[in-house]
Order: sequence, then C-alpha cells, then structure tokens
Amino acid sequence: MDENKIESLKQEALAAAAAASNADELEQVRIRYLGRNGVLPAMMKGLKDAPPEARAGLGRAANDFKVSVQAAVEDRKSGLTSARQAGPAFDLSLPGRWRGVGSMHPISKVIEDATRIFGRIGFTVAEGPDIETAYRNFEALNTPAHHPSLDPGDTFWLEDGMLLRTQTSPVQIRVMERRKPPVRVITPGRCYRRDTTDATHSANFHQIEGLYVDAAVSLGDLKGTLEYFIREMMGAGVRIRFRPHFFPFTEPSVECDFSCHVCAGNGCRVCKNSGWIEIAGAGMVDPRVFRKVGYDPEAVTGFAFGMGVERIAMVKYGIQDIRMLYANDLRFLEQFR
Ligand code: PHE
Repeated sequence: MDENKIESLKQEALAAAAAASNADELEQVRIRYLGRNGVLPAMMKGLKDAPPEARAGLGRAANDFKVSVQAAVEDRKSGLTSARQAGPAFDLSLPGRWRGVGSMHPISKVIEDATRIFGRIGFTVAEGPDIETAYRNFEALNTPAHHPSLDPGDTFWLEDGMLLRTQTSPVQIRVMERRKPPVRVITPGRCYRRDTTDATHSANFHQIEGLYVDAAVSLGDLKGTLEYFIREMMGAGVRIRFRPHFFPFTEPSVECDFSCHVCAGNGCRVCKNSGWIEIAGAGMVDPRVFRKVGYDPEAVTGFAFGMGVERIAMVKYGIQDIRMLYANDLRFLEQFR
C-alpha cells in the first residue's frame, strides 16, 4: 500500500458517497470504506508493516482518507434529508377532505323550485305568521263556527282566540287587507293540525298558497296556471284534471290531480293504480271573502289554490314516509343536493 493507492481509494469512496441515491445505499458505502471490516481498518493495519521511513506519510494519507470520506458521507446524508423535505408539499393522491357542506332539505327544495316557477309568471312571495287570529284563519275565509274544520280537536288553540294556523289561506286575507288589486302572490309556509303522526300525516307540515285577483280572472286561468306549474315541477308530459269539491272560501271549488309522472297514467304503485295524483285544492275566490277584505266582488274576480309541500316532495322524490322529512337522518338528507 502506497500513498497513491490510498489517494485512489479515497477518490473511489468520495465518488461512491456522492452517487448514493438514498440512505441505504449511503450506509453501504460507509460500511465498505469506514466499517469495521472495511477499507480504513485494513489500511491502518497495513501501516504497521510499512517501512519506518514511509510510515509518517502513509499515516497522514490514511488520516486524510478517513476525514475526507467521513465528511463526504455526512455531506451526502444531509443532502438526501433536505431533498426529502424539499419534495412535493402536496400528496396529490390523497383522497380529498370532506368539507361537510350541507345539502338542501327536500321541503326547502320544493319551496324554492315553486317560488322560481311561479316567479316566472309574475307571482311574488308573501308571508304571514304561524300564530294567527281565528278571524283570519276561519271567519274571514267564510268558515262558519259550525264548520267541521273549527273542531277544537283539529286546531291547536292558543290563548285569546289565537291559534297555530291550520292552512296558509289566512295569508290571502293579510295580503288583500294590505293591497289593492291586482294581486298575484304565492305564500309558502308552515301549518299545524292536531293529526296523529303516521306515514302520511304530520302535526306540522307546509303548504304553498297561491292567489291571483284582477279584473277578469277565470277558472281557465286557474287551470292554465296549475297546469304550467305541475308540468314544470313533475315533468312536461303530465296532464291535469279538476274534480268538483268544496271549500268555504272558494266557489266553485275543485281538487286538482295530475296524471302520474311515473306510469304516465297507466296505474302503478305511486298513484295507487288510479293513474292520477292529487296535488292541490283550489277554486274561485268566494265573493264573501272579497267583501271581508273590502274588495268589490263586482269589480274583481280571483282564483286561489293550496298545496301540500310534503306531498309534492314525496311524490316527486319517491319518499314513502312523511316522517323521513323530519327525522334529520343524514343518510336520507344527503341524497338531496
Ligand atoms: N286551504 C285549503 C286546505 O288547506 C286549500 C285551498 C287553498 C283550497 C286555497 C282552495 C283555495 O285544504
């Protein structure tokens, strides 16, 4: 072993350290040149056998080898570490984090859709309070005291003749008390009845009321308006029909059905094999109601309708049980976006 040999081993070791591409490879280099059975201890052992006059030079060369190779290994080690730290800051393969954004409740969705659909033909939104006077909920709507809907068993009565409104129709009264005709509003809102809760009944529910009063509003206008709405809501192909009915505040009164959007009227489970689904109560505003709010029944006519929001949501989205709408089960609610 001479000084040239030591120098060339040193160059070899420095090159190997610099070429190590990861910590394992670098450790192999360190073991080969500096480890217990490596190049350096062999070199030191060789020193003893060297002629005395060469020892000092060989010793310096061996020491230089040791210091240089150690430094090169350390150098490369910190280079590899900082390379790892400086790597991509984002792991693009990680699944995204759920931001927990809510979804729109089907009841809100139906109300929002209906507001937009009626808005396109000039209806604006009017609102009234949940706590109503008996006058606006019944009397002004031509509902006499002996009418079955005044049965105390059906209405949540409060103190002083106040009640939780059983329908959104009292908002018709509020609007007409405040405004001169023409009037064209829808009034979405919450209603309350002392119903026992089951798959199709809930003690509180929502309605969308509509009211259109002007110089010459006809039953044909009512039919056209409801047909437009139901087609926008349920599908372009559906037809509607009117069946005679009775409401104290409209004359004539009708119930409105649409041809089942699932079976196109052929009969299926959704329409209970009838081909038709009931969607609204409606009629021409009774002259007595106009007189109550100070409108002249000789000068104006109008139509009104009321429909159940839960019912629309249930037929539209195929919801079997009204209680799903109030259970706040995320597995159900997340399906509505
Ligand atoms: N208020 C009626 C109900 O709750 C529905 C309705 C509204 C009927 C307007 C006619 C006109 O059943």
